[in-house]
Amino acid sequence: MLNRRRLLVLGATLGGATALPFTRLIPVDAEDRDPIHNPHRIGQRATGTGVRPAVTAFTEQMPVPPVLQPVQSASGVDLYKIAIQASTAELLPGLKTPVLTYGGSLVGPTIRARTGRPVKVTYVNQLTEQANVHLHGGHVPAASDGHPMDVIQPGQSRVYDYPNRQQGATLWYHDHSHHTEAEHVYRGLHGFYLIDDPAESRLALPQGKYDVPIMLRDAQFDAEGGLVFFDDPANRTTILANGKIQPYFPVAARKYRFRLLNAANEHVFRLNLGGKEMVQIASDSGLLPAPVPLTELVLSSAERAEIVIDFARYPVGTKLVLSNGSDPVLRFDVVRPAIDLSRLPATLRPLPALPAATIERDVAMSFDLAGTGPVGLVNGKPYDPNRIDFQIKRGTTEIWNITNADTIPGVQHTFHLHMTNFRVLERDGGKPLPQDAGLKDTVHVSENGKMRVQATFADHLGTYVYHCHFLEHSSLGMMAQMEIVP
Ligand code: C2O
Ligand code: CU
Ligand code: CU
Repeated sequence: MLNRRRLLVLGATLGGATALPFTRLIPVDAEDRDPIHNPHRIGQRATGTGVRPAVTAFTEQMPVPPVLQPVQSASGVDLYKIAIQASTAELLPGLKTPVLTYGGSLVGPTIRARTGRPVKVTYVNQLTEQANVHLHGGHVPAASDGHPMDVIQPGQSRVYDYPNRQQGATLWYHDHSHHTEAEHVYRGLHGFYLIDDPAESRLALPQGKYDVPIMLRDAQFDAEGGLVFFDDPANRTTILANGKIQPYFPVAARKYRFRLLNAANEHVFRLNLGGKEMVQIASDSGLLPAPVPLTELVLSSAERAEIVIDFARYPVGTKLVLSNGSDPVLRFDVVRPAIDLSRLPATLRPLPALPAATIERDVAMSFDLAGTGPVGLVNGKPYDPNRIDFQIKRGTTEIWNITNADTIPGVQHTFHLHMTNFRVLERDGGKPLPQDAGLKDTVHVSENGKMRVQATFADHLGTYVYHCHFLEHSSLGMMAQMEIVP
């Protein structure tokens, strides 16, 4: 067996005044793959350079992913059906980019669920390889969680049960098939799953067409318009907003609720409106206790933040650019006046009481560089589906100390916990930052970072994973599992 795996360690800096330096680790030689911790599939070799394709900014309108209609609504359950299929997308003018999709388009159809009303989704795998579906942020039975080893074979289908016994939140669904999750999500296996909560309707927040999900992700293209995967993630310098490069979005002069998702495999977005105010109302798992005005929103991979922008402050004709650092991502064009009956109340939804923690655990994420290629580790071990790392009694409240144990300069991580959510108690030994507010399921862990979080493991029994959500890292083994027991 050839052993030419190369470790790519680049201290690349993303463009933009406020960009962070990133060091990235990925295996670049597809011939060398151990059976457990490297991607199995031969993919494209690196052909790109991170040079961005020339696209004229703000010439295309940002689409809003369509809301999927149930194929059946019976006895209080909505049934949906989605094909997992290869397709093409026009991401660059005149070029067809091969993509993998849920339902045919790069950003999958949006499922709009409701607190208290279960959903069942049948996924039909029409790919020539295995895939699966994880509902990120969903509190779902283990059998429907899209465990990495629990995959849908080509030609097979599978029904996932989502009870929706949780408060309103912006969730998303994406592939989680072991070793291939990073490539699959990168090639397009991602979509929104929004839970509307009847308990929130009294708040009269913007709704309907004024409640808009926006999926942000990065991409690297080759000359034919193909997505380059096997290269340094720092070369994914093109940002897509709902699948479009630098689109515009016409808005009325009123309040909008935007549900921002960072669906990039490995990217920390620092979003701003050129100094203008955005008001954060929700994070990963739902509403914050009160709105938080911000001029910059930091969103790491898999995190969500909901913001309200009140365009009534700006005269018709105003154009407001949402940028990542200094890189324009999307332009809001205020095109017409409007009567706005929606509200942004001073208080939203109190967080549930925090039960006392009875157990404290450490979770250290790092890379092992001693061998022929990088292996991702949690507490010193690569992922092993046959090993239970933590056994947790259902109902327990625990404190987890999550550390970035890497000594490689510039390497960052983003921690995600399945099945439940958590509250950030401390960041790096101090107070949490604005991006840590509310109930979270994913949190960025900076270089030498230390996050202290508290979670209650109620609801479901069974085996669930927790991992780094820089998906190249989790495919390399930076994942572990817990078993919730009675
Ligand atoms: Cu977004 Cu384990 O997943
Ligand atoms: Cu990581
Ligand atoms: Cu692995």
